[in-house]
Amino acid sequence: MQSSPPGPAREQWSSRIGFVLAAAGSAIGLGNIWRFPYVTGQNGGGAFLILYLACVVLLGAPVMVAELAIGRHGRRNPVGSFEAIRPGSFWKIIGYAGVLTGVGILSYYAVMAGYTLGYIFKSLAQDATPFADFAANPLVGLPLFAVFLVLTVLVVYGGIRNGIERWSMILMPLLLALLLVLIARSVTLEGAERGLAFYLKPDFGKVTGHTIVAALGQAFFSLSLGMGAMITYGSYLSKRDNILVSGVSVALADTLIAFLAGLLIFPALFASHLDPTAGPSLVFEVLPRIFGTLPAGRFIGAAFFLLLSIAALTSTISLLEVATAYLVDEHKLSRHRSVWVVALVALLVGIPSALSFGSVPFFSKLPWIGWDFLSLMDWIFGNLMLTLGALGISVFFAWVWKTRNAALEIREGCPGFDRIAWVLDLMLKVVCPIGIVVILVFLFLNLG
Ligand code: PFF
Repeated sequence: MQSSPPGPAREQWSSRIGFVLAAAGSAIGLGNIWRFPYVTGQNGGGAFLILYLACVVLLGAPVMVAELAIGRHGRRNPVGSFEAIRPGSFWKIIGYAGVLTGVGILSYYAVMAGYTLGYIFKSLAQDATPFADFAANPLVGLPLFAVFLVLTVLVVYGGIRNGIERWSMILMPLLLALLLVLIARSVTLEGAERGLAFYLKPDFGKVTGHTIVAALGQAFFSLSLGMGAMITYGSYLSKRDNILVSGVSVALADTLIAFLAGLLIFPALFASHLDPTAGPSLVFEVLPRIFGTLPAGRFIGAAFFLLLSIAALTSTISLLEVATAYLVDEHKLSRHRSVWVVALVALLVGIPSALSFGSVPFFSKLPWIGWDFLSLMDWIFGNLMLTLGALGISVFFAWVWKTRNAALEIREGCPGFDRIAWVLDLMLKVVCPIGIVVILVFLFLNLG
């Protein structure tokens, strides 16, 4: 059990930096640049930021290391990796749930990513149509959604080194550079200091149970944890790679980009006297108005939405890769065929989400629950399933595989791991399960 099961030669990342950029690319996405600022805005700013950072350190980073270790040891997709570590057991159900969750998230995430793509051209054309009207047109939403899925397919088609790794190496540094340029503009706007104060000066009077739940959920979503994306990416790591250093680097990069996104958005928001609690429409409705007041605003706006599209693409790649790796490993389908099968399923499942911004009243306000279809999908897959998945992964790692066995895997490439293994053990055995059960209870209370 301690050495990896002998398997067919598996493609590997060509370098540590290639892996870190690809995994950071998965983590960094709409979750950081669109979702993080609006959730921070709704939850009082600075205090949320601190709670979020605590969740990343206490829950996110340990689950990240656990996923990478399970993946490198199993050398397969999530289903195959659980099976390789505990053959014949029911634990691979966590893997199946992950494959399903990946397709579920991809189906609505690519819809939002499609709008982002559309906004590049909308900004350039200086088209002032409000987001609500833009998104309500199915002849805009559906083609953009399909185009985004095809872009994702084309990258995943190339496999690990020539597809995912090569594109991440180009796209991720570009993203950081664009973000820094935009921040330089945002923080020098008149009135920016009030935005900085809102974002960086915590007011703990605003913290409630909901704030903590929001921070925990945002941490898993943003770090791409709970559905085996990092198990899959870990399966392409070599034994020379340092799982601990790589995992922590990915978590740091993700957190840095979310932090920078806040630094971009809040100063600009307050400079324009707008409301930080605007919610999911923040990026699409509020930012174009801010760009409109800037010199060369249409180019700044187009650059921003290009940045957001790049970030979303490196995330949809990983969402597609999980189910693709499952079909390639477990059902011996060719990579090309698997990629198309998964993308087609995501396209079909995503159609109601693409029609949920007013174009079809039924999907825009579901009977009984009153939500739109996309929000329902986000709640089920982006919230509940990731949280359940992270719970399953931490329990499996610490209680079933057991940290002392996993340590033999992690130690390869990280000889000093034994000295701090107890910390990871404590986190995954106790802190993560308890923390996650608390979120789940709150999620269900919220539902009521
Ligand atoms: N982490 C991505 C984001 O923040 O946008 C979303 C995501 C990607 C979640 C991959 C889960 C996942 F497996």
